[in-house]
This record gives sequence, structure tokens and C-alpha cells, in this order.
Amino acid sequence: MEKYKYYNIKNVGETVSLSGWVSKVRNLGGLIFIDLRNRSGIMQAVVRPENDFYGVACELKNEYVIKITGKIVERESKNPKMLTGDIEVDVASLELINTSKEVPFAITDETTALEDTRLKYRYLDLRRDSLQQKFITRNKITYATRKFFNELDFLEIETPILCKSTPEGARDYLVPSRVNRGKFYALPQSPQIFKQLLMVSGFERYFQIAKCFRDEDLRADRQPEFTQIDVEMSFVDEDDVISVGEGLVASIFKEVKGIDIKLPLMRMPYIEAMEKYGSDKPDLRFDMEINDITKIFINTNFSIFKNVIENNGIINAIVVKNSADKYSRKDLDKLTDYVKTYKASGLAYLKYNEEVSGSIVKVLSEEEINDIKNNLNIEDNDLVLIVSGDYKIVKNSLGALRCKLARDLNLINKDDYKLLWVVDFPSFEWSEEENRFMACHHPFTAPKDEDVNKLLTDKANCYSKAYDIVINGYETGGGSIRIHNEKVQELMFKALELSEEDINSKFGFFVDALKYGCPPHGGFALGLDRMTMLLSGTDNIRDVIAFPKTASASDLMCECPGFVDEKQLHELGLNLENK
Ligand code: AMO
Repeated sequence: MEKYKYYNIKNVGETVSLSGWVSKVRNLGGLIFIDLRNRSGIMQAVVRPENDFYGVACELKNEYVIKITGKIVERESKNPKMLTGDIEVDVASLELINTSKEVPFAITDETTALEDTRLKYRYLDLRRDSLQQKFITRNKITYATRKFFNELDFLEIETPILCKSTPEGARDYLVPSRVNRGKFYALPQSPQIFKQLLMVSGFERYFQIAKCFRDEDLRADRQPEFTQIDVEMSFVDEDDVISVGEGLVASIFKEVKGIDIKLPLMRMPYIEAMEKYGSDKPDLRFDMEINDITKIFINTNFSIFKNVIENNGIINAIVVKNSADKYSRKDLDKLTDYVKTYKASGLAYLKYNEEVSGSIVKVLSEEEINDIKNNLNIEDNDLVLIVSGDYKIVKNSLGALRCKLARDLNLINKDDYKLLWVVDFPSFEWSEEENRFMACHHPFTAPKDEDVNKLLTDKANCYSKAYDIVINGYETGGGSIRIHNEKVQELMFKALELSEEDINSKFGFFVDALKYGCPPHGGFALGLDRMTMLLSGTDNIRDVIAFPKTASASDLMCECPGFVDEKQLHELGLNLENK
């Protein structure tokens, strides 16, 4: 079998044989023009009335499967929009290989077909060139990944899909066991535990392109079943893992896009990311940093800000440069509604023109208005947007608003890639729901050496050896140095208020393994789907997964999940409450 050939004007005179699908067929006064589509693109073919297969050509319809043979000739009227737009095939033989039912939507790049219809007929949707290109990109990424790791002596090792629950923090997908009635496997949320065990086994350098399963609320960048490029290494520290991680990402960018990423990447402490961008995955393709202007209002008479300060809250602002005239009262009301979805109580604004106007201009003193201007280097026609209240709410809402404004105002250059590591994550985060500190990552994440002694006494100020790689505002990967010391692991479990019983039943075997000469180790996992999204210019994760699920975790094509036979349930010892 030969490689695909891509024909152009230089191939004029060659005889070719092409198989594929009829993408379009036109009968122009006797001449029949067929657009033949296959993996390598579209080629125009011409059938003449004198051809003995002319009758067959007259019957062709879209998506029929054909094989043609003929000479490549220069076209009379060229189509600069097509890669093969200078040439066509003068058909010498035509074979109809298969017919097709009328397709539910046209197989074209621009489509108005509903996504649900396209998902139901996913095998037809995948015929579209724009989707095929994304899978070509995905394949280039996995190829570059395997090449990168092979050159560094990493071993690709598979880990189980039917396993015990893994502690990534989402809900597990469970699989009932027939042989062990009443017992369940969990599908892996990640190969986390297994890859650490492989380090205990002495493999030292592991990677895997691994399927992961998480039963969580879905978003545009989240699927219940997704793929990670999963990595683990022994005898390493944070710098080693980060260097391998960014080396991998850089080699993927080079192989797939021909882009040279300058290494080492910038590293930003988590606290700085939250302060300036209101997110642990800051999009650095545009500015609009968040500014803390609380101190301007220490002695304010404006009751709302006064109240916020008395309750240990903060007052933060973002400046939208040269945009005051772009936002009407109605637009600003919409932005207010937007920040309210992030629990902000409201959005105050000031428009700095010759005269200052805005929602809070009457309640602030002249000095305060001037202080804002000087502190934030305000120029004519700048719009200042302010949120006040609880730290987390203020940062989250302004962080989200900053990204929305950048999209609305077209501040993002689509060809731009901004990569960074966010480092020094807190070990714990407070859960309002559970009313206790929970692990920010998984419970095997090593704390910073200087914080080990604080694990039980000062959880709010413990930081971990964890890092995330962020590209254009997407958390594309993350990992950490793990705890390899049994005593520290015990402390961590205690800090997470896990009972002895819990530990033993959930990961007793794993804790036991740590006792048999566990090497220092760490790793990371890169989201393959998100990486493909970034490199193929889509913000819909479904575009880069061949057979994806909808937002309600269903496969519309297979109609899955589905009901099963009573007999199957019986064999598993299951009884459904509501059928
Ligand atoms: P984490 O949970 O951060 O880490 O996942 C790593 C990367 O996987 C991708 N990802 C997802 N992609 C699509 N849909 C999802 N539902 C989804 N969830 C995660 C993201 C994310 O950055 N075991 C650790 C890694 C480690 O510590 O080595 C882990 O799984 O791109």
C-alpha cells in the first residue's frame, strides 16, 4: 500500500485511479461534473456523453461510492478555493461500488444541521473534512508523544480499566461484578494509583495514553470519558517533572504546528494567578488584570464598600481600555447579570471621560474617584468595572468577566498561544458543603517540605508540590510530586480526616506498597482531548472525540446508556428501584 497522494497542476498528464464518495454531482449540458471526496481531499472528475458509462454517471447521487480512472488535465475554469482547483480527472472508467440512502444532512464543512442530528449520524458527520482534520491533528499529537517518550527511555505500560475506585475527586462509574455478586469495579478516573505502583515496581519512567472516566457535570471542555497522556517518573523533583512536561508540550507544538515554544515556560504561583486573573488557569493572551483597590476605600462613606471592608471583603476592579463609549446602560446591565451568575452581588462601573459618569459616581468622593484614576492609570474613554465582597467571589466573577470581555471585544488573537505553569497550589481547600478542608489534588500529593509540620495545625497555609500547565486559559495538564514517605502519607490522611477504616478499605494495598522501598517520584497528566482542541482551533471537546457523549452523558448514535435485560440484571444480582 502506498502513501496518499495529493495531486496538483504538476501531475497533469498522469493517469490516476481514485475511490471515494460523490460529494457533489452536476450535469452541465451533457458534461457531468463529479466532486469525488476521500481522505486526501476533493477531486473534480468529468464524464462526457460519449463515455460508455455515461448512463451510470447520470444516476449518481451524493454519497454514492465510486471508483474512477482517468487522466489528470488542467481545468478550463479554475477554483482557487480548492487545493485541487487547477486540475480535474478526465474519466476513462467509472465503477459504481455502492449506493447510499439520502443523507440526513449535507456532508459539507459549513453546516446548519443541528448537533443532535450530527451526533445521531456521527459516522456521516465524521466524513466532513473539518472533523477529519481534527483527528489527523490528534494522531499527530499521539505520534509526537510516543516519539518524545521513546527517545527518553519511558515505557508505555497499560493499566486496568476494571479497578478499584481512584481518588481523583469526581464520582466513579461503577461496573457490577457477576462473579462476585454484590461487588463493583470502578472505571479509573485516572491511572494515578497504578502509575505510582509502577514506580514502586522499579520501572522509573512510565507513560500511557490512557482512557479515564469521570461521572461529573459536563462542560464544553469536559467529557465523561476522555484521554490523558499520563506520565510518572522516579528519583525526580518538581523541576525535573516540569521540564519533561514542557518538553513534551513543546515537541507536540513543533511536530503538529511547526511552532517553536520558548522554554522554560513562565511559572506563576497560584496566589498570583488568583490575585491578577481570578483563575488558576489564567488566559494570558490579553491583559485586563484584576486590581485590588480596597485600600482607596478604607475611610469611605459609601455604605456598600464600607460594609464589605468591615466584613473582611475586598474591592477589585478591571479596566477596559478605550471602551467607555462601547457600553450602554443596557450592556452594563447584562454584564451585571453575568457577574451575578458567579454569585457577585453586583457590578459597579465608572466611565472616565472629560466628565466621570457611572453607577457609583454620585456616592464616591471626588478624592476616591481621582485615586482610582491615578492607581489604575486611567486614560480618556476607559471603563472601570468594580466588584466588591468575599475574596473568592470577587476574584472568580472578575476573572470570568475579564475573559468574556476579551471575547466580546475581540481582544484574542486566535493564532496566539500563551503557555505557563501555575505552581504552589494550596494543599487543601475549604469545602462549604462538607464544612471541612479537602485535598486540592489527590491525597498522595506531596506538601512543600516546609509545610509538612503544618499539615494538622495550619491547613489554610499549607502548599503542595503540584503544578498545572495552562494554555490559553485551559487547564491542559497537571501533576505533582507524590508522597513517598509512609509517615507523611499518614499525616496527610489524618489532615484529610480519613479514618483508619476508610484508608484501609479505599487504598490499604497502596499504603502498604509505600512501605516496601518506595522511590521518590512524581508525574503529570496532559489532557489529550484538550490539547487537540487547542491545536485544532475548536472550543468544543466533542469535535476531537470520534464518538463523544452529549452534555447529558448520552451517546445519541448508539442510544446509550440503555436498559438491559431482566436476565442480565438477575445474573448481577441487581434489582432496579424505578424502571
Ligand atoms: P487531573 O484531574 O488534573 O489530574 O487531570 C489531568 C488533565 O486531564 C484533563 N481532564 C479532562 N479532559 C476532558 N474531560 C474531563 N472530564 C477531564 N478531566 C480532566 C485535563 C487535566 O488537566 N492523576 C492526575 C494527574 C497526576 O497527578 O499525575 C490527574 O488525573 O486536561
